[in-house]
Amino acid sequence: MALISSCTVSTLKGAAASLRSGNLVAFPTETVYGLGADATNKDAVAHLYQVKGRPSDHPLIVHISSMANLDKWAREIPEYAKKLARAFWPGPMTLILSRTNLAKDFITGNQDCVGIRVPSHPLAIALLTEFEDQGGLGVVAPSANRFGKVSPTTSEAVVEELSGYLSPNDLILDGGPCEVGVESTIINCTQDIPEILRPGAITATMISDLIGLQKDQIARGSNKLIIKAPGLLQSHYAPKAKVFLSTTSNPGDGFIALSEIPTPSGAIRLASPKDNEEYAQLLYQALRLADTKQLPNVIVIPPTGDDIAIAICDRLEKCAYKS
Ligand code: TXA
Ligand code: MG
Repeated sequence: MALISSCTVSTLKGAAASLRSGNLVAFPTETVYGLGADATNKDAVAHLYQVKGRPSDHPLIVHISSMANLDKWAREIPEYAKKLARAFWPGPMTLILSRTNLAKDFITGNQDCVGIRVPSHPLAIALLTEFEDQGGLGVVAPSANRFGKVSPTTSEAVVEELSGYLSPNDLILDGGPCEVGVESTIINCTQDIPEILRPGAITATMISDLIGLQKDQIARGSNKLIIKAPGLLQSHYAPKAKVFLSTTSNPGDGFIALSEIPTPSGAIRLASPKDNEEYAQLLYQALRLADTKQLPNVIVIPPTGDDIAIAICDRLEKCAYKS
C-alpha cells in the first residue's frame, strides 16, 4: 500500500491504470474518503469487500464522472431523478435507480437497483475522468473504513483504518480533509416519488423545493421501504468509545458540542464547531480523537435544525451506545 500525498496528473493516470488492473485506490470525495474498485471487476470488488470486512449482500455506490454516463448503469430513470441529478451533481447525493445489465449482483447485493453518484471533489472527478478515458465505466467506492466503523475524512484516518488490510499494489490518495464530513444523501428513485434513505448535505427541504413536493412526503419512513436501506443496522459509524447523547458528563469524558456550549468541568473537549456545517465536517475526526486519546466515553450534544443537523443526528443515533 502506498500513500500519495501530492497528486499530479501523472500520479492520477497511474492510479486510474491501477484501478483498471484490479487494484484498490482510496480517494477523497467531498463527503468522506472512499475505497475505490473497478465496478465491473468481480475479483477487485471481492478484494474490496474483504478489505472492508463487509458482508457481501451490502450494496456499493457506483461513482461516475458526469451525468452523461448515467444511462450505462441505470434505466427507466424518472424525470424527478434527472432533475435531482441536474441540480445536485456533482455533489453529495446518491440516487438509487433501476439497474442495467452492467450493474451486476456483485455490486448491488443481488438487488435490481443500483446506487450512483457523481462526486464533486476535484481529485475524485479527475480520477474518475482519467479512469473513464482509459476505458473504465464506473468506480464502486464505499467509505474507506472497516465495516461498522467511523468513516474517514482525512487520508491519515484511511491509513489508520485500512493499512493493515490493503495489498502492496493498492493506493491511498491524499486530498486533505473532506469538506462535508458526512456521507452523501441517498435517495430511492425507484418509486413514484423520491424517498430519502440516508440524510446528508442535500436536505429534504432542498429536494422538496426542487421537485415541488411536501417535505414529509420524501422523508425516510413515509413510504414503505422496498429495498435494503443503508446504515440501518443498529450500530454503525461507531468509535471504540461509548457515545452518549446527553448533557451529563463525568470528569475524563470526551465532549463534542457547538462552540456556544461550554465544556462541563473535567470533560475533554474534542470539537467546538461554530455552526452545523462545521459540526458535520469535524464530527468523525472528533470521534476518532476520542479513540486516539483512549477515552472510554464521549458525551455529544446533538445540533438542532432542519439542515445538515438531520444527517448529523442520524449518524449520532446510529453510533450512540446501546446498553
Ligand atoms: O458519501 C458517500 O456516499 C460515500 C463516498 C465515498 O461516496 N460512500 C459511502 O458508501 O458512504 P458506503 O458503501 O459506505 O455507504 C453506501 C450505502 C450503503 O449503506 C448501502 O447500503 C447503500 O449505500 N446502497 C448502495 N447501493 C444501494 C442500493 N442499490 N440499494 C440500496 N442501498 C444502497
Ligand atoms: Mg460506509
